[in-house]
Amino acid sequence: MYDATTREVEAPVPDESVAAAATPDPAPPELVVRGLRKTYEAETAPVRALRGVDLTVGRGEFVALMGPSGSGKSTLLHLLAGLDRADEGSVSIAGIRTEELSATRLARLRRRHVGLVFQFFHLIDHMSALENVALAALVAGAKPAEATERARDLLDTLGLLEKAGESPANLSGGQRQRVAIARALANRPTLLLADEPTGALDSDGAAEVLDLFTRMHRVGQTILMVTHSADVAAGAQRIVRMRDGVLLGEIATTGEQR
Ligand SMILES: Nc1ncnc2c1ncn2[C@@H]1O[C@H](COP(=O)(O)OP(=O)(O)OP(=O)(O)O)[C@@H](O)[C@H]1O
Ligand SMILES: [Mg+2]
Repeated sequence: MYDATTREVEAPVPDESVAAAATPDPAPPELVVRGLRKTYEAETAPVRALRGVDLTVGRGEFVALMGPSGSGKSTLLHLLAGLDRADEGSVSIAGIRTEELSATRLARLRRRHVGLVFQFFHLIDHMSALENVALAALVAGAKPAEATERARDLLDTLGLLEKAGESPANLSGGQRQRVAIARALANRPTLLLADEPTGALDSDGAAEVLDLFTRMHRVGQTILMVTHSADVAAGAQRIVRMRDGVLLGEIATTGEQR
């Protein structure tokens, strides 16, 4: 059974300020973003996609990120996932400051701590659902037998075991996204990032995926999810809003009580 609370978390290397404190905080927030800036050099004029983003996500929190198209949501997730580097600012994941890491160590942190779900699944159609998930576990360092077992376990938890041998091409949109979520969980990430995970789904598929995220949140998974849907966002504990590259006020939702 998938249980995010049982994941063995690598002890973060404390920075000097933490080491100097009399009682170091045993559990830093899962994600701390400070003053994050990113400008894209475009052909006409530079695009200031992030203009100083501050965000803290506690361990086990489920946060929805909303905002108009072009406000910088995907850019933020890409930086958090280590797919790109910020121009300025800091990102700490599981207590580890990423901007001081070499490319190799950043890739390792990403493999160990971050899971990423996209709008358009990006599954490999000539591999089965099980193989898609097992591959991610292999990349994260699991041995082949362990990777298969972990993939089977995840598909079982996500209600897809009977589809394990199918190509993703033969699955519904909601089922494909659940396979993609299983793949994102294959490295037992401490932080799950999702960029419009329900954006390409009909309302049934969206409900399936939201239900899954709610279940993962209940077992301790930290989730940051971008969505354009107020209904989907309402399933989160907290909604943060973005506009023109900065985060605006926060709204607590009733998702936690559901
Ligand atoms: N690789 C890139 N090169 C140049 N500009 C980019 C690049 N990626 C994003 N941008 C620009 O940066 C800004 C923020 O884009 P981003 O994709 O982060 O927005 P978003 O909030 O995710 O929008 P959407 O809701 O449409 O997905 C936009 O003006 C976009 O055109
Ligand atoms: Mg986007």
